[in-house]
Amino acid sequence: MGELTGHVALVTGSGRGLGRTIVEALIAQGADVAIHDISEDAPAQYGEGANLTAVAAALVTPGVRTIAVTGDISDEASVARIAADVADRLGPVSILINCAGGDIGAGGTKPSPNGALDISLSDATAVMQRNFIGTVLMCRAIVPGMIARNRGSVVNFGSTNAHHGVSPEVIYGCAKAAIVHYTRCLALEVRAAGVRINAVSPGPTMSARFLATRATDPRMMGEGPSLDRYAQPSEIASVVAFLAGGRSGFISGQVLRVDGGDGVYAA
Ligand SMILES: NC(=O)c1ccc[n+]([C@@H]2O[C@H](COP(=O)([O-])OP(=O)(O)OC[C@H]3O[C@@H](n4cnc5c(N)ncnc54)[C@H](O)[C@@H]3O)[C@@H](O)[C@H]2O)c1
Repeated sequence: MGELTGHVALVTGSGRGLGRTIVEALIAQGADVAIHDISEDAPAQYGEGANLTAVAAALVTPGVRTIAVTGDISDEASVARIAADVADRLGPVSILINCAGGDIGAGGTKPSPNGALDISLSDATAVMQRNFIGTVLMCRAIVPGMIARNRGSVVNFGSTNAHHGVSPEVIYGCAKAAIVHYTRCLALEVRAAGVRINAVSPGPTMSARFLATRATDPRMMGEGPSLDRYAQPSEIASVVAFLAGGRSGFISGQVLRVDGGDGVYAA
């Protein structure tokens, strides 16, 4: 029996990257988990698995149920299908982790150019859809059931880019800032039902996509003791697991920056 035994968790964007590490953390605490990605192929894009089915097979653990589900979180019909599929196969979702997202433009790669004035409209729209609108649609699909059952915990994904001015990655920062504020507003709206809504805002974290899509500083690649480095995915996943479960039972509407203390400022 783990802390999350009896819970059903849906982790969006978990065929690879931070999402996959979060799935491992939730399974270790006994949750049944729906592993989700936009497509079967998504885990292969940066070499993290042959496909989603293979990733799900590798995560099979005695005593917990795991399923794989695909769909685009920025498409309302697709989100409804994901929610129904998970409910049919695992039962009511009590933990929703909105991890899917990233600074990924219309073509499936980082927007270029990526500034406040020069980003293309198609890339700006894609980044907002993939991050902010996708998070809103998933909450709209799952949270009403949590309210009805008076049981649920949601963890949304911001970024340290949401908390200070950035350039480039401007629209991405704006999308993450919108997620952070939506987290606060939704927490207020569902408070009376006992449903908790929180967010994490990671600093730069060594997921495969992070390492593949940006110039990295070799001095930042270590594992500590210095905090002046990139995060390990497990350092984000353990915080998400904390916010998901009962140890954070009286915390809601909060945004936890997990950045090794890099951004020590108010708000
Ligand atoms: N790695 C970092 O440095 C870092 C820092 C701050 C925040 N984040 C956030 O953490 C989350 C995970 O990032 P990661 O670094 O593991 O990257 P990643 O690309 O490995 O993970 C993102 C996942 O979301 C999925 N996804 C993207 N758009 C989708 C859509 N429309 N529908 C369904 N699935 C979709 C991707 O296929 C992928 O599985 C993202 O929200 C990202 O913005 C990452």
